[in-house]
Amino acid sequence: MMKVSDEGQFAPLFDPIALGGVMLSNRICMAPLTRHRSGLDGVPSDLNVEHYRQRASAGLIVTEGIYPAPMGRGYLFTPGLHTDAQELAWSKVTAAVHEAGGKIFGQIMHVGRLSDPLLLDGELPLAPSAVRPDPTARHYTVNCPRPKRPYTTPRAMTHREVLAAIDEFANCAVRARRAGFDGVELHAASGYLPMQFLSPNTNRRDDEWGGTAEKRCNFVLACVDAMIAVTSSDFVAVKIGPGWTFHDVFDDDPLSTYSHLVRALSARSIAYLQIADYGMDWDVYGSLRPLFDGPAMYCAGFTRSSAKTALQSGGADLIAFGQAFISNPDLVDRYRHGWRISRPDLATYYTQGAEGYTDYPNFADCDPRDLLPVDSAPIPISAETTG
Ligand SMILES: Cc1cc2nc3c(=O)[nH]c(=O)nc-3n(C[C@H](O)[C@H](O)[C@H](O)COP(=O)(O)O)c2cc1C
Repeated sequence: MMKVSDEGQFAPLFDPIALGGVMLSNRICMAPLTRHRSGLDGVPSDLNVEHYRQRASAGLIVTEGIYPAPMGRGYLFTPGLHTDAQELAWSKVTAAVHEAGGKIFGQIMHVGRLSDPLLLDGELPLAPSAVRPDPTARHYTVNCPRPKRPYTTPRAMTHREVLAAIDEFANCAVRARRAGFDGVELHAASGYLPMQFLSPNTNRRDDEWGGTAEKRCNFVLACVDAMIAVTSSDFVAVKIGPGWTFHDVFDDDPLSTYSHLVRALSARSIAYLQIADYGMDWDVYGSLRPLFDGPAMYCAGFTRSSAKTALQSGGADLIAFGQAFISNPDLVDRYRHGWRISRPDLATYYTQGAEGYTDYPNFADCDPRDLLPVDSAPIPISAETTG
């Protein structure tokens, strides 16, 4: 039987909140999800427009990772935002989301050492230091469109190249604002370039960009400062995944690295901080949330119930749901009414085309036999599931 509304019981999820320069209508955010449905030239497609439009009832959409420059690209069919054509296409996405009443931040993602010369016109990937990723850290097991061969040893960036990469983040933020985004989120998790600077196994530098925990944070902070300088502090957000070893990054003392980083981000009054706890054996939220004096978005493994608890008593202001938004375009309504939810199809996470992307139905059009209880947990995130 269809329930009318659970909204009262789950009221914290449906409270509006002011974030940066915008007002969100609820706390249920769509986590960034790389889905490989753009053009080979990094231009977002009409499918991207439709996918995000369908999910505009989220309090906030954070887009899939967007590369800010050619050297930041790590996959096929992922979008960029460094050309006029890409900017124009993103403006169609933001317009569609706004027209449907939603808000949208673009996630800026530079893969650094995780790219491949085949994607970089023959160039070696850039990294803080020339440390080759563990060849087994990649996605041989999922249908992820990228060269299926071992990672290459990247080239250590010169000081000048570090400054140039920071400029690329800033230029991308400018384009994002012109394209109508409500803000940008710097992707400093998942072992990509910013996390390669944060992590001691990938950052062996002894200049101002590496060495101590403080210096390993300098790249992220310089990117944030550069993006703020060309936009505003309430336009810029950051995602971190403290302690996660995905893509062969390792930090033997994440608490000290991230305590410094989070305090420094707090001082910058950014729009929000997204903290993803990817199953760490220490209290990520409890340790870091008190150090950040602004809105915090928690992410990874949340259900409607655990989200309510995190909002009520765990220090979260927003909750990002990843896989639940893949298969439930109307997730907010399902959580509001306590309706059962649809199971995502792992096989189409990284394929191309509409299947598994824009063809998940709203609740009313679902076959009830396919549905899961509303509080079902997502698949635990791992190299099998994430990009
Ligand atoms: C298909 C897929 C693609 C992802 N792509 C990104 C990405 O581009 N940027 C990012 O920060 N996280 C990415 N993630 C991680 C999600 O943002 C989120 O942290 C993760 O799915 C955990 O949330 P969940 O348990 O609600 O799914 C991806 C995850 C999945 C499943």
